[in-house]
Amino acid sequence: MQVLLADEYGFCFGVERAVQMVEDALAEGGTVRTLGPLIHNSQEIGRLEAHGVATIDAPIEASADMTEVIRAHGVTPEVQRELEARAAKVVDATCPFVTKVQKLAERAAEQGRDVVVIGNPDHPEMIGVKGYAPHNAHVVRDAGEVAALPPLHAPLVVSQTTIKLSTFLEAAEAVRAKADAEPQIVNTICSATRDRQDAARALAGQVEAFYIIGGRHSSNSIKLLSVCQEQCAKSFLIETPQEINPADVAGVERVGVTAGASTPNWLIKEVVERLRAIGDMRQQAEPIAV
Ligand code: F3S
Repeated sequence: MQVLLADEYGFCFGVERAVQMVEDALAEGGTVRTLGPLIHNSQEIGRLEAHGVATIDAPIEASADMTEVIRAHGVTPEVQRELEARAAKVVDATCPFVTKVQKLAERAAEQGRDVVVIGNPDHPEMIGVKGYAPHNAHVVRDAGEVAALPPLHAPLVVSQTTIKLSTFLEAAEAVRAKADAEPQIVNTICSATRDRQDAARALAGQVEAFYIIGGRHSSNSIKLLSVCQEQCAKSFLIETPQEINPADVAGVERVGVTAGASTPNWLIKEVVERLRAIGDMRQQAEPIAV
């Protein structure tokens, strides 16, 4: 059985960088804590916990003997200041693509302009961005919500890094109708999610079974599953190699593998090894042709 990996899979740049920053903080010694779970993958969180990295829920829990890590979604400047006041050291692992959105929002607000951010207002990334333009930013999900906004002054339009391009473009168009001047539209969508979906789609048509490794609550992993299911009926979302049922790949010659943006490489490797082992066992069990 051939095990084929999609061209793009697993950790995105921002998540890989955040995990590396936690590893570096651990290597320096002392107590390391993250504000909120570092990533949406319980196996990787478990691995970090085994090295002593725990999570705090609010800056008030930080103390002078701790190194605090800000996760890739980023936080408001207020939260960052509070952490800096309480913790021994703050490691800012905000993804640079998110920092770019924060800085754009901050600058436009300083110029007295409105800022329209297309995204989910409850998502931590959006809460952080809004904190950079607290009096000027409007976080809206789509064009329909833009219609409910008051008139906008010389607006900047940016997006949550993980939304769909069509949602952003439609909403940006709706902002134009509300603005007193031509809006500044900056597409700040990160390509990592789309690249993983495109690569999975390209492979799904060439295999008879597909394993997507990722958290059951990770939205980008669930989306990868539905992309694969469009072309490969035997597509499975798994969190660990133990969830692979050999019966599901009985008779399968080519199996595809991909992983969500929060799935670590060590877990992907374990899944690939188990699939190869299942294939080898099957080969040994086959009768020798005479
Ligand atoms: Fe950053 Fe994009 Fe990942 S914004 S955290 S590289 S999905």
